[in-house]
Amino acid sequence: MNTGILENEQQGERVVVRTKRGYELKIAIILGTRPEIIKMSPVIRECERRGIEYYILHTGQHYSYEMDRIFFEQLKLPAAKYNLDVGSGLHGAQTGKMLAGIEQILMQDTPDVVLVQGDTNTVLAGALAASKLHIRIGHVEAGLRSFDRTMPEEINRIMADHISDYLFAPTETSKQYMLSEGIPEERIFVTGNTVVDAVYQNLEISKQTTNPLKDMGLQEKGYFLTTVHRAENTDNKDRLSGILDGFRQVYDEFHLPIIFPAHPRTAKMIHEFNLPIPQGVHITDPVGYLEFLQLESGARLILTDSGGLQEEACILGVPCVTLRDNTERPETVQLDGNIIVGASKNVIASLKQMMHAGNGWQNPYGDGAASRIMIEKLVTI
Ligand code: UD1
Ligand code: UDP
Repeated sequence: MNTGILENEQQGERVVVRTKRGYELKIAIILGTRPEIIKMSPVIRECERRGIEYYILHTGQHYSYEMDRIFFEQLKLPAAKYNLDVGSGLHGAQTGKMLAGIEQILMQDTPDVVLVQGDTNTVLAGALAASKLHIRIGHVEAGLRSFDRTMPEEINRIMADHISDYLFAPTETSKQYMLSEGIPEERIFVTGNTVVDAVYQNLEISKQTTNPLKDMGLQEKGYFLTTVHRAENTDNKDRLSGILDGFRQVYDEFHLPIIFPAHPRTAKMIHEFNLPIPQGVHITDPVGYLEFLQLESGARLILTDSGGLQEEACILGVPCVTLRDNTERPETVQLDGNIIVGASKNVIASLKQMMHAGNGWQNPYGDGAASRIMIEKLVTI
C-alpha cells in the first residue's frame, strides 16, 4: 500500500516521518474550543496512526470541564503539550493574547506545518502567528462563507483562508468560493469534512458506552434537541427571547420535550436577561460528545444555530431547523435536510415542513476519510 511515507527512521526514541521530497514532517495542531477538539480528533488519531511527529497547542479559549477536558477524556486524546490559558475576553484582547503566546511557542518548538480548524478566534491567531514566522499553514474546513461580515467567524475564516498554504475544503462549493476570491487552485484540496470522520469513529463507541436517552427518560424520536450559542442570538434580548418563545409554541403544538444542553454563554445570558424558561424546555449543562451524538441521532428534529450541529444532523439523517438568518452550510439546505428560520418567534410552519422532510438525503461532507486524505497530502507535497 502506498502510504505516502517514504522513510521512517528510528532516531533514539523518535520516529522521523519523511515526506516524498525527503523533508521531516512535524505538525503543530492548534485548537482552543469544543468543536475544534472534536473535529481535530480524527486528524490527531491519523498522526498517531502514522507515527508522525506532532504536538497540540491549546489556546485555552474554552476551559470549563464540559467545554474542554471532557472531550480529551472521552476521545482519548493526548494532553496538549502547551496550553496558553487565555480564557474569555473581548475579541481583540483574546486574539491578541493568543497571537503573542502562539508566536513564542512556534519560535521555540518550530513545526513544518501548523494546522488550524474552522473559524474561531483561535484559528485567526494560529494562522496569523504562523504566517508571520513563514511556517506553512493548513486550514481544515476552509472556504465556508455565510456572506455575513458582521459574524466574527466570517472574518476569521476569510483571513485564515487567504494566509494559508493548504486549504482543505469540505465540499466543491467551498472550493468555488475560494477560487472566486482569487485563491490559487493548487492550494485547494477537497477532502470532505473531518466531522464525518468524528461521527463515524465515535457513534458506535458511544452506543456501547453510554445511554443518555435512558438516563434522561427519553424515547427514540420522542423529543427535540436544541443548542443556541451564536453571539447574535445570545447577546440580543429580543432574539434570545424570540427563540425561547418559538420553543414554547413548539411544545404547545407537539407536547414533545425540548432538550437544551446550554453553552455557558447562553445560560449566562438567559439569566442576565431574566428570561423565563417555557414549559417543556429542559435546560442542562453541555454534555460529552459520546452522549451528545446519541441525543442527536435519537432526536425527532434538531433546532440549532451551531455549525457543527447542522452538519451532524445531516450526517445522521435528522432534519434540522437553523435558528439563524444565513448559513455557511448551504449543502444541508439544498438537499432539504435543513431550513433557515432566523430567531423568529414563529418557527412552527418551518418546523412542520421539516417534520415531513424525510431523511433520504446523501451526506455531502464525505465518507469519513477527510483526515486521512489531509495527512496524506501533507506527506506527499
Ligand atoms: C466560540 C467561537 C464560535 C464557536 C464556539 C464553539 C469565536 C469568535 N467564537 O464562541 O465560533 O462556534 O466557540 O462553542 O471564536 N465560556 C465559559 N466556559 C468556557 C468557554 C466560554 O463559561 O469554557 C463563556 C464565557 O462567559 C465566555 C463566553 O462563554 O465569555 C463566550 O466564550 P467565547 O470562547 O468567547 O465564545 P463562544 O461563544 O464560545
Ligand atoms: N456538542 C457536544 N455537547 C453539547 C453540545 C455540542 O459534544 O452539549 C458537540 C456537537 O456534537 C458538535 C460540536 O459540539 O460536534 C459543536 O460545537 P458548537 O456548537 O459549540 O460550535 P460550532 O460548531 O457552532 O462552531
